[in-house]
Amino acid sequence: MAPLERDDNKVGTDVSTRALSVTVVENDFVERVYEKLSSVYDLIFGPTLHPGRLVALKRMAITPGTRILEVGVGTGINTSLYPRTCTVTGIDLSTSMLAKARERAAREDLTNVRLMEMDAANMDFADESFDIVYAPYLISVVPDPVRVVKEMRRVCKKGGRIIVLNHFRSPNPILSWVERLISPLTVHIGFTADLDLPGFLAQAGLKPISIEKVNIPRIWSLVTCIRD
Ligand SMILES: C[S@@+](CC[C@H](N)C(=O)[O-])C[C@H]1O[C@@H](n2cnc3c(N)ncnc32)[C@H](O)[C@@H]1O
Repeated sequence: MAPLERDDNKVGTDVSTRALSVTVVENDFVERVYEKLSSVYDLIFGPTLHPGRLVALKRMAITPGTRILEVGVGTGINTSLYPRTCTVTGIDLSTSMLAKARERAAREDLTNVRLMEMDAANMDFADESFDIVYAPYLISVVPDPVRVVKEMRRVCKKGGRIIVLNHFRSPNPILSWVERLISPLTVHIGFTADLDLPGFLAQAGLKPISIEKVNIPRIWSLVTCIRD
């Protein structure tokens, strides 16, 4: 189904209930978008979004044996960045993005990486299976970001890290207006431009230990949380 635009009156002021974006997407639409993007993804979203990926890696405090879950692993662009001494599980909805990730894992002999086709909103893992659960550039492309982060929390062990790297709507009223305006268009290249960070944190019950601005321009946020 094509993305829908919400009525403005549903984008309210109550942080705990308001709609997080003016755009509503569904998984089959997202799959079609990434089917088309898979062959050019690394070229378009590789170098531009890479500084944020590197800062995220530092915040993970990875030690030998750390179990990492990357949610929305895409073409596996992060998979070769993790130390070989940790185990990495990457999940993604898109068969064609995962095919690229599998090619990379074979090419770079990433024996510590396993890749699985799975919906982030409905993960097939037991509670507290991972030490770090990381969603790089995923949360603004799923139908229900709050449900996804609740799943991330469920599969993360107590005291583990939940890390979300994403673009969120600007607090600047003019930029925010522009982001809402273009959001129904940006979904066609893989993300909603207007995800509401305060609303997302409140509705997901996340209390970050840090929120850092990353990439150039610094309009992406790296949100690091400890699983309670
Ligand atoms: C913008 S890409 C991010 C890729 C990679 N993590 C990176 O750092 O560039 C978003 C990825 O999330 C995947 N995705 C979207 N919705 C998903 C869902 N519900 N469950 C799992 N993966 C999903 C897409 O197929 C796509 O590969």
